[in-house]
Amino acid sequence: MREVACVNGQFMPLAEACISVNDRGFLFGDSVYEVARTYEGRVWALDRHLERLRRSLEGIQIEGVDLNAVRANMLEAYQRSGFDNAVIYVQITRGAGPRSHVPDGPMKPTILITVRLCKGAREEQVRNGVEVILVDETRWARRDIKTTNLLPNILALQQAHARGAHEAVFVTDDGWVHEASHSNLFIVSGGVVRTPPKGPALLPGITRDLVLECARRAGIPAEELPVSREALLSADEVFLTGTSSEVLGVVRIDGQPVASGTVGPITRRLHALYQDRVAAGDDA
Ligand code: PDD
Repeated sequence: MREVACVNGQFMPLAEACISVNDRGFLFGDSVYEVARTYEGRVWALDRHLERLRRSLEGIQIEGVDLNAVRANMLEAYQRSGFDNAVIYVQITRGAGPRSHVPDGPMKPTILITVRLCKGAREEQVRNGVEVILVDETRWARRDIKTTNLLPNILALQQAHARGAHEAVFVTDDGWVHEASHSNLFIVSGGVVRTPPKGPALLPGITRDLVLECARRAGIPAEELPVSREALLSADEVFLTGTSSEVLGVVRIDGQPVASGTVGPITRRLHALYQDRVAAGDDA
């Protein structure tokens, strides 16, 4: 088993992969990305990830990318890696050229795919839940586009780690909570699951959608409505979703326990339902 890269259709060991210093992804963060994972030999929710990638490319007007070729290269890179449970990262930049804010002419996008072992959430984190901190929302207004401009997310997560927490949840000036640095956010109050609605304020997480579907199929009331800081702090349960961490209970916010301070029953149920979907390969 080995880490593999594919740069513009050429496969190689990850450690040997190179990108031009003139690449706009490197110079300006002028690029979008996707992170998919595999379970036991199968890429999970691949169609959904490719559709979001298409939307991200459209969102920053990168044209001329053959997503069928990207799909084929993702699958081949995964196969070459030999890993069962892998993380497949795809980054598409506007291309390489002399540094200038606006490119002089048409560019050829750079397409990077990497495959590495998936670590996922630790069993103890799933069982006992994690702590989050609240941080000011400092990101740009199009958070629905999965761009590689992640500086606010990185600084927020660094702050969380420095305080011994797992994630940082962004709170806007007017007290709304949309998501965390690399996960979507859900609350449960009075038996009703709630997550903020899709729109420019947050990334439309693939896991978020799958978990909402799990809830609705199981007859658990689930709504997509704004979540205020107060609603978050007074929720019966809080959980995060993301490709590698799946469904992860939040038991402390800024050092204060969420309800009883343990992973709640609906969070556990949704975690189990999500595992069932994964085991069934049900990602359509
Ligand atoms: N992060 N919100 C943000 C800001 C994210 O970066 C992510 C994923 C999510 C969850 O989306 P999904 O369920 O599709 O993974 C929500 C990826 C994994 C990353 O940046 O590594």
